Amino acid sequence: MGASGSGKSTMMNTIGCLDRPTGGRYLLDGVDTGQLDRDQLADLRNRKLGFVFQGFNLLARTSALENVELPILYARPPVSAREKRRRALEALGIVGLADRAHHYPNQLSGGQQQRVAIARALVNQPRVLLADEPTGNLDTRTSIEVMGVFQSLNDQGITVVMVTHELDIASFARRKVVMRDGLIRTDEAVTARWHAAAALAELEAEQKAVHLA
Ligand SMILES: Nc1ncnc2c1ncn2[C@@H]1O[C@H](COP(=O)(O)OP(=O)(O)OP(=O)(O)O)[C@@H](O)[C@H]1O
Ligand SMILES: [Mg+2]
Repeated sequence: MGASGSGKSTMMNTIGCLDRPTGGRYLLDGVDTGQLDRDQLADLRNRKLGFVFQGFNLLARTSALENVELPILYARPPVSAREKRRRALEALGIVGLADRAHHYPNQLSGGQQQRVAIARALVNQPRVLLADEPTGNLDTRTSIEVMGVFQSLNDQGITVVMVTHELDIASFARRKVVMRDGLIRTDEAVTARWHAAAALAELEAEQKAVHLA
């Protein structure tokens, strides 16, 4: 977390090997990224990292399934069309959208589009998922559903690094890092972490109460 301009995206871009640090070293899984050329960096990125963005960044005239297949195009060694399809369907299944594989982005809700984007980020089985304001364009319920997907991935051993402006959303994480003026100010465990299932039940109860009143 941190104010606008505090360096959150810069940090994400560094972790994601999209930017190189101007000083210091960044080791990813023991590999000094400063020693790699562009192709080696791209390969490392493709194998270890998945990216999720605020604006989903799906290709419009491309089905959910084909969007999810995209990162496999760069896999080394190359993957057969059949295997690509199988992996993409599996990733869509993880985010609960196997039945929407042939829909286009404009036929999906914002939350569904973000889940397709998460499936795309997962398709190469990354170790780390990087999400810069993934709920910035989503309503409360849909944001909690996306947090549910992240929590379940995290339970399976995937590290999720997420930028958010919302305290509520940050409380779904295990750890909260606050930045200011390009520096880390605090880095602490989240006490009383929220769980998406409980938060959804609470939201439903609240809405029911409002409805009755
Ligand atoms: N490529 C760049 N070259 C030089 N300065 C940059 C570059 N990108 C960002 N900056 C500066 O670095 C600082 C941190 O920017 P960054 O985009 O990381 O902020 P942020 O915390 O993600 O903000 P926001 O919440 O608005 O997305 C800002 O002062 C910005 O102007
Ligand atoms: Mg930013």
